[in-house]
Amino acid sequence: MIKVLKIHPNQPEPEYICIAAEALRQGKLVAFPTETVYGLGANALDARAVAGIFQAKGRPNYDPLIVHIAETSWLPRAAAEIPLIAWRLAEAFWPGPLTLILPKRSEVPDLVTAGLETVALRVPAHPVALALLKAADVLVAAPSANRFGHTSPTCAEHVLADLGNRIDILVDGGKTHIGIESTVLDLTSSVPTILRPGGVTKEQLTRLLGDVVVQSSVKANGIHRSPGQLQQHYSPRAKLIYLLGPTCQAALDLLHQISQDEINRGHRVGLLVLDEDLPTFNDLSVWVATLGSGNDLWQAASRLYAGMRSLDEQNVDVILARDMGEHGPGLALRDRLQRAATKIVR
Ligand code: TXA
Ligand code: MG
Repeated sequence: MIKVLKIHPNQPEPEYICIAAEALRQGKLVAFPTETVYGLGANALDARAVAGIFQAKGRPNYDPLIVHIAETSWLPRAAAEIPLIAWRLAEAFWPGPLTLILPKRSEVPDLVTAGLETVALRVPAHPVALALLKAADVLVAAPSANRFGHTSPTCAEHVLADLGNRIDILVDGGKTHIGIESTVLDLTSSVPTILRPGGVTKEQLTRLLGDVVVQSSVKANGIHRSPGQLQQHYSPRAKLIYLLGPTCQAALDLLHQISQDEINRGHRVGLLVLDEDLPTFNDLSVWVATLGSGNDLWQAASRLYAGMRSLDEQNVDVILARDMGEHGPGLALRDRLQRAATKIVR
């Protein structure tokens, strides 16, 4: 039976933290909130506990996990080499939505890193996650707490819906703040490389690093640099059609046309768009999950996954979404929508 602990997100009750921390130390599976999405945690140095994560999620074991630490000073517990730039990035962005890829220590089980010689590390910026990590005093491997391939959970209800009785404890700290996953930055390549855009933007990283490469998709030769970065991921149940291309009225008119065609086929259409886009669809009978105003793409990011799930609950057959540029969180939104899409229209 899963135990749900409803905890205060800013002043977590010590008795609940204690229960969850003890469970982690005993090799149990504990879902907990971070500032990005909910994570499904286990003691990273306990290979049997980590195997439980893969089993609960239905996750293939070629997809490595992020190891969560309570503070920067824990870095040497998992990383074998820590370049100066890693310390500088940690100082600038931790606790926060940045994951650093560094050479791993041999103590970190192969299962955590999918056999890679590197390990992904981050300090999450959430009072509950931090209290839990400190109290447990173990490295915590935690992927997003969803079934493999599904949208990431931004509230406890999403975790329950996906993992229900497959896990031991769910620490319910309400909605997560950022709503999309951390930025994964590889520091083992000659130029720091973004493997997954996320909660820390490319602009923020460029200001500190000077030069950053973005390589979030599958390489030309088909080899995944970040093995979990499968093309189809983060997906709702409904088919998702994603319009990639410059945003202008012509693009919205095309989306309107596609909606009309789908409705004519007898399909239920859901829109996952910005407030400003809605007037274009006034004449159509559609379900809407708004991402808020285009002036605030952070809000759009925080609503993305919940929007997909709410449209799925309306039993829509198809969800239509469009590109929101690549500035700030736009790049991460593009990455997630592209991977969630069953069809990309240009
Ligand atoms: O915001 C987040 O990052 C959330 C919260 C819970 O921290 N976690 C998360 O974990 O999104 P997950 O497992 O869903 O995504 C981990 C990503 C995958 O794309 C994986 O391929 C990449 O990190 N990754 C992990 N270890 C890696 C490594 N050694 N080298 C390259 N990529 C790695
Ligand atoms: Mg995930």
